[in-house]
Amino acid sequence: MTSLIKPSSVVDTRGRPVRDLRLSVTDRCNFRCRYCMPAEIFNREYVFLQRDLLLTFEEMVFLSRAFERFGVQKIRLTGGEPLLRRGIERLISMLTDATDCEVTLTTNGSLLARKAEGLAAAGLSRVTVSLDSLDEDTFQAMNDVGFPVSAVLDGIEVASAAGLPVKVNAVVKRGVNDQDAVDMAAYFRGTGHILRFIEYMDVGASNGWRMDDVVPAQELIEAINGRFPIEPVAPNYRGEVARRWRYVDGGGEVGFIASVTQPFCGTCTRARVSAEGVLYTCLFAVGGTDLRRMLRSGAGEEEVVDALRQVWEVRDDRYSEIRSLDTVDLQKVEMSYIGG
Ligand code: GTP
Ligand code: 5AD
Ligand code: SF4
Ligand code: SF4
Repeated sequence: MTSLIKPSSVVDTRGRPVRDLRLSVTDRCNFRCRYCMPAEIFNREYVFLQRDLLLTFEEMVFLSRAFERFGVQKIRLTGGEPLLRRGIERLISMLTDATDCEVTLTTNGSLLARKAEGLAAAGLSRVTVSLDSLDEDTFQAMNDVGFPVSAVLDGIEVASAAGLPVKVNAVVKRGVNDQDAVDMAAYFRGTGHILRFIEYMDVGASNGWRMDDVVPAQELIEAINGRFPIEPVAPNYRGEVARRWRYVDGGGEVGFIASVTQPFCGTCTRARVSAEGVLYTCLFAVGGTDLRRMLRSGAGEEEVVDALRQVWEVRDDRYSEIRSLDTVDLQKVEMSYIGG
């Protein structure tokens, strides 16, 4: 649906517009990836958001329309695990009806085989599946709930058969799954699914991140190039986080998200909203703006649009460019809460 109101552009203090909206729809997940939700912290006593605190689908659509007026073109649903949110298919149809945005989703793939057809029918454009290793023991140790590789691979195939283009995200941690990277490249080459390796980041305050655990993208590029020659490709759009490479023999593309060793804050056009409606202007934020309170106190579209403009105009974030020993220990919001 086309908005009657013309979009007005807004840029932050570094000249960056807002293009991508990442909406977290739940802070819960059925995995306990060590680098994201370590089980000793996210245990039975951990207090997740109560249902009445979550934004309703109507509230998410309202916010998405307001963001679209500033130039948002892509909405990515995240979590926790977004497919755990009941009725997510309905949210997708509501968003595709109410906006002209591309609607996509990042999932751990565990429920994808069951849900992909419904997601595609609801109007989802494509899907990104997180999968860190094809080695059964390594993957099960990383997700820490013993979830098998084959079930994620099934999800990928069902999604693809349902017509959804698939990307695969693999977070690489030194000494944990770095030895599996070339095998993953070998597996996904030629399938049409684009594999992207992500440098392990110091998101949140509970994963015990150390620089020594990061495998620089350059190292993976060299390892993959040694087995299957690759060459760089130009970005699809300004602000794309993954550096694109292609197999010289025509085996397709592979990407590298070097957020630690080659930060991309200069072109960062992403806004993030948590499942309870707090707006964050950086993945590494320590605080945000409570939009739910505004929405529930009866604010109209113009008021919300004004509030978004005010937040974006003063935005100055560039965490990955200024990361240091001091910033690593900040009490940042968790990845499972802000959605990656
Ligand atoms: P497309 O380019 O549309 O396919 O998606 P995307 O790469 O924007 O989204 P995706 O969720 O696949 O992002 C991949 C991962 O890159 C995220 O989960 C984060 O781990 C990382 N990432 C994405 N955006 C940022 C960012 O703004 N800052 C940092 N530091 N990392 C980011
Ligand atoms: N560093 C890098 N990527 C991470 N993800 C989760 N935690 C981290 C981290 N500490 C990834 C997930 C998923 C995406 C949402 O973010 O694996 O692909
Ligand atoms: Fe869940 Fe994704 Fe975090 Fe793993 S990385 S615990 S799948 S939200
Ligand atoms: Fe954007 Fe913050 Fe990531 Fe930099 S660190 S790219 S400002 S989200």
